[in-house]
Amino acid sequence: MEYVTLNDGNKIAAVGFGVFMIPNDGPTYDAVLAALKAGYRHIDSAAAYFNEEDVGKAVRDSGIPREEIFVTSKLWLQDHGYEEAKKGIARSLRKLDLGYIDLYLIHQPYGDVVGAWKAMEEAKAEGKIRSIGVSNMSPTIWKKYIPGFGTKPAVNQVEFNPTFQQKELRTLMTETDTKLEAWYPLGQGDKTLLSQPIIVKLAEKYGKNAGQIILRFEVQEGVITLPKSTNPERIMTNLDIFDFSLTDEEIQEMRALDTGKGTHNPDAPGVEEMLRSAFVIKD
Ligand code: A2P
Repeated sequence: MEYVTLNDGNKIAAVGFGVFMIPNDGPTYDAVLAALKAGYRHIDSAAAYFNEEDVGKAVRDSGIPREEIFVTSKLWLQDHGYEEAKKGIARSLRKLDLGYIDLYLIHQPYGDVVGAWKAMEEAKAEGKIRSIGVSNMSPTIWKKYIPGFGTKPAVNQVEFNPTFQQKELRTLMTETDTKLEAWYPLGQGDKTLLSQPIIVKLAEKYGKNAGQIILRFEVQEGVITLPKSTNPERIMTNLDIFDFSLTDEEIQEMRALDTGKGTHNPDAPGVEEMLRSAFVIKD
């Protein structure tokens, strides 16, 4: 496993295991234990995934020292605002029950983001959270908030894969040394992406599958990647990307797959309202 150093000095495993849409009360517990057994040391959850309890329980039961596992969770929209965020952070800490959270993100950048960020900065200063970051910030939203933030986000977790390489955003994020975390890093397993001639050619050359080539590309680009899989073999092989390297020329060929378009546009009208009504987090 390779590690990435964040702008606050903390280290994070370059490949993490995401638990979006995996139910609580069993399935997430089993999946996280299986991932830890397979070698993952970075688990990505969120209040709005409704499975923080299972994540915490699996980490506690794993027998692996707490400090060797990196756990991310995220604040949901209903908890934006200073006082609300304090409650949201306390709720995540209680549900995870791991003493502290390694990384906590503003999941969706709408509403009182500034107040929420202040509460997150305080929780970091108090040692409840080790690193703080944001998610789904487009270049427009980034420019609206980040210049005013005292603590610069350690990460911005956004959609990223070879067809959507976030060039403008990454240039902006370089200024604050904020690392990009990729959701949908495999384009949701899109066959058109996985069968791109360059990817197929590199898979043959290195004796890897198409997904592994994509993940290797992302890690070499300095991206922290969160591939999702429910297939035990792919869960394992998606970690097996550290025994080969793409050449500079191959990286250039992969960069040429960028179309500049993804599935999610955080700036689109109605997105905030749609997300706001999507989930209610209960105590
Ligand atoms: P499966 O669960 O059967 O492994 P993303 O991470 O971009 O959301 O993509 C997830 C999708 O990609 C899932 O449908 C998953 O299917 C598939 N997938 C995961 N790993 C690989 C891989 N190494 N090669 C091809 N498809 C993969």
